Amino acid sequence: MRALLFDEPAADTATTRVAEVPTPEPGPGELSIDVRAAGVNFIDVMARRGDPGYATSWPFVPGLEVAGTVRALGPDVSGPAVGTPVAAFTGSGGLAEVAVVRAERVVAIPEGLSYEQAAVAPGTLTTAALLLGPAGRLRKGDIVLVHSAAGGVGQALASLARLNGAGLLLGTVGGASRVAAAEASGYDAALVRGDGLADAVREKTGGRRVDLILDPQGTEWLETDLELVAAGGRIVLFGNAGGTALTLPPAGRLFGGNVSIGGFSVRGYAANAPHLIAEALADVLAKVSAGDLSIELTAVDGLDRAADAQQALAEGRGEGKYVVRI
Ligand SMILES: NC(=O)c1ccc[n+]([C@@H]2O[C@H](COP(=O)([O-])OP(=O)(O)OC[C@H]3O[C@@H](n4cnc5c(N)ncnc54)[C@H](OP(=O)(O)O)[C@@H]3O)[C@@H](O)[C@H]2O)c1
Repeated sequence: MRALLFDEPAADTATTRVAEVPTPEPGPGELSIDVRAAGVNFIDVMARRGDPGYATSWPFVPGLEVAGTVRALGPDVSGPAVGTPVAAFTGSGGLAEVAVVRAERVVAIPEGLSYEQAAVAPGTLTTAALLLGPAGRLRKGDIVLVHSAAGGVGQALASLARLNGAGLLLGTVGGASRVAAAEASGYDAALVRGDGLADAVREKTGGRRVDLILDPQGTEWLETDLELVAAGGRIVLFGNAGGTALTLPPAGRLFGGNVSIGGFSVRGYAANAPHLIAEALADVLAKVSAGDLSIELTAVDGLDRAADAQQALAEGRGEGKYVVRI
């Protein structure tokens, strides 16, 4: 079978290639999928550049999320039946013609849903659902601030937060060219990060503080988050796109402000609480199928195009959420 490989860490596509590799077979607790579509995620970029904990060995096959049909079941796995259309959180290995995944992270696709739509559910939409649910504990009417609002997860958060009853929904972006995309995905306003961000947020909220802040920018903007967050508010750190050093404030600041700072990792849920991934995945698939939840997709054809899509994300010039048809 063909797969996308990273031979070794790199800042660009120099060490990325599509190659013929042995077709993986499912072991106990696993099943294999004939992949029809796979999402491209910033996590692929973090693996490619060699961030600790992402690529487990080299060469590395990236690919967090897929949709396709069940190809084969592991020895102790009873379903879904071979041939069933499914979506799955692979974690890695999804950008390939065949992917092997733990069976508990596989959910059947509702009838009528395309493989492209289903392929962005296990990673992107499920991440948004878990961020707003167990991690962020969104309440109806909450003022919400999302950093990196124009990316795939940023767009998914807008759609789902609205559906779940968020109040004022604000996003931040790294450059003015991304404001329109963020606002089109559902944010009431998108603000460019820079000096004066806190004042710009306060202007939009009419001076009220923010109940929930979702931040994938490492801890670079944490001081601003702390300045903006409401008493009883939650800040959830869920990424480090810039790859910078991470620092947390002294605990006393959290007591004083009645503030929670939490962390989130969808791969952590996949490893330690896969049933939560499956529940959230089934829920977002149902919402997409019902037409209640959607994100803008840019579909590209063939694994050969995946490297360019990853590079677009790496350079912060991604155009919506990329999905690769395989
Ligand atoms: N913890 C988890 O389990 C989990 C799961 C999925 C995603 N994530 C994180 O969520 C973020 C979005 O992921 P995605 O797949 O939706 O990616 P995406 O579509 O590529 O969005 C990533 C965003 O990160 C910003 N960015 C890109 N390169 C950057 C850099 N070098 N320095 C600072 N900011 C940069 C850009 O937004 P700006 O407009 O802000 O520049 C871009 O929109 C990523 O940081 C990813 O690691 C975390």
